Amino acid sequence: MSETILSEIDNGIGIITLNRPERHNAFDDVLIQELSAALADMNGNPAVRVVVLSSTGKSFCAGADLNWMKRAAGYGPEESRRDAAGLAGLLRTLNEMRKPTIARVQGPAYGGGVGLVAACDIAIAAFDAQFALTEVKLGIIPAVISPYVITAIGERKARRYMLTAERFSAAEAYRIGLVHEIVPGQEELDEAVGEIVDALLDNSPAAIGACKDLIKAVAGRPVTDEVVADTAARIVRARASDDGREGMAAFLEKRKPRWVAKP
Ligand code: COA
Repeated sequence: MSETILSEIDNGIGIITLNRPERHNAFDDVLIQELSAALADMNGNPAVRVVVLSSTGKSFCAGADLNWMKRAAGYGPEESRRDAAGLAGLLRTLNEMRKPTIARVQGPAYGGGVGLVAACDIAIAAFDAQFALTEVKLGIIPAVISPYVITAIGERKARRYMLTAERFSAAEAYRIGLVHEIVPGQEELDEAVGEIVDALLDNSPAAIGACKDLIKAVAGRPVTDEVVADTAARIVRARASDDGREGMAAFLEKRKPRWVAKP
């Protein structure tokens, strides 16, 4: 039984909810461990086809729990390294999920909260969402989240927001590519997340997994002979796969592929 996370599976949708509202869902060692375990469970569960990361309370996530960070500053080198590796591992687990992930963002998302948003495949925010990379204000750095944040918003924008620690709005988060969509309120947030979930559930789970691998293999690399050959090899495998055969046959036979739920 988790103390800090709610986890449920409903019709192929895995919903993980950060549930530490009295601390604005700031993450300490317990939440990191419980969230990592919930993500690993969903990743390995064939009943889960999409994962939604949401939260209770006023804030999406106030980043690292500063009481925990302060405590960890006094750890010995080995314990300190292990502790930081836990947080880095959580972000990597989220980033490398085989299932598509959606961040449902309301209220503030600060520090590591921005990291969670950036490490999801898709992010949707309500107008009241606010973002900030506050670490340098606290005398620390956005270290373990940086690969995901820089990938999401680009180096130039990362330079501004990581160095100034300014707060920015949902509209700015949309402009710089941190979130894909912004909506007026919580009701519209659920509707928008529902639409994305429906789109994902129409698609082959195996192809989605292979597509995530493809993006990871190609993103940021120059178009070398090796990359071109690798992309050709991937389509060879995909079109001969069970889902490739089924999906193309279903289109040509004017029927729904087997992974689409019957109405
Ligand atoms: N770590 C630990 N405790 C936190 C926290 C964090 N990251 N963020 C908020 N809290 C705690 C506050 O200390 C406060 O505790 P208290 O009730 O014992 O005084 C409680 O949560 C409520 O926070 P408060 O600031 O009073 O609420 P608010 O609604 O005015 O503001 C935030 C909410 C999230 C905007 C604000 O708390 C904040 O800016 N937090 C810091 C976020 C941050 O910089 N995170 C990056 C860490 S690397």
